[in-house]
Amino acid sequence: MVTYVDAATAPLKNTGQIRLYDKAAFEGMMRAGQVTARCLDALDDIVRPGVTTDAIDRFVYEFGLENDAFPATLYYRGYRRSTCTSINHVVCHGIPNDKPLREGEIVNIDVTYIVDGWHGDSSRMYAVGNLRRAAERLLEVTYESLLRGIAAVKPGNTTGDIGYAIQSYVEGERCSVVQDFCGHGLGRLFHDVPNILHYGRPGEGVELKPGMIFTIEPMVNLGRPHVKVLSDGWTAVTRDRSLSAQYEHAVGVTETGCEIFTTSPAGIFPPRSLRG
Ligand code: MF3
Ligand code: CO
Ligand code: CO
Repeated sequence: MVTYVDAATAPLKNTGQIRLYDKAAFEGMMRAGQVTARCLDALDDIVRPGVTTDAIDRFVYEFGLENDAFPATLYYRGYRRSTCTSINHVVCHGIPNDKPLREGEIVNIDVTYIVDGWHGDSSRMYAVGNLRRAAERLLEVTYESLLRGIAAVKPGNTTGDIGYAIQSYVEGERCSVVQDFCGHGLGRLFHDVPNILHYGRPGEGVELKPGMIFTIEPMVNLGRPHVKVLSDGWTAVTRDRSLSAQYEHAVGVTETGCEIFTTSPAGIFPPRSLRG
């Protein structure tokens, strides 16, 4: 039996088929991605010692309200916040709380806004005051790994080419790639096929085709790659408590390469710490 609810949501279900989106969809994704990017730009002036991640979460919620954008993480699978804030050895899915940020910390802020049904998913690292050199280097390596992953996105290449570009670079820098979380198809759905692994071998995986839309969001550790999820059911941390960093962009495959939906309109990506 097919209920009315099934019939209404069927077009949005993850069918296992990788969707190829048209020009109108790419325009919708660009609008959503740009609201997210403007929010991440604005956070550049907000993140500093003493600010709580709760305050950051509130800012993300309100910025959404002012821009006809709803945070996709709010009420998503029982998650109750507008953003994830992952500090130091937290790999991803850190839950905002009332603890003030402290000088020298690194924090990933991950925002996904839904605008007209399209998902703009992106995250960046923020430096809280001045960083130690090791932390600064981790941010540089992680950001560069995202750029190398994006450079591998073009028709005829595969998801394995993306993973290989990221992993071979990161390991050459004596850091490690987290294997327990991956990038994902994106569009009308928040998390769709294909999985975008941040490790792999050239030519493996799914062949990239014009119209595919997905995120690339490598998590890179200074120490070993292994993670565990805390008892809150969300917070993922490095097992060895080494520092972890992540940058995320949403991209669409074009005839010649890809379009990035979440680039900073103010041109302030990468953030302060990488601008010297
Ligand atoms: N924004 C994250 C991603 O990049 C997903 C967060 S889901 C949450 O895919 F429920 F933890 F918020
Ligand atoms: Co994502
Ligand atoms: Co995200």
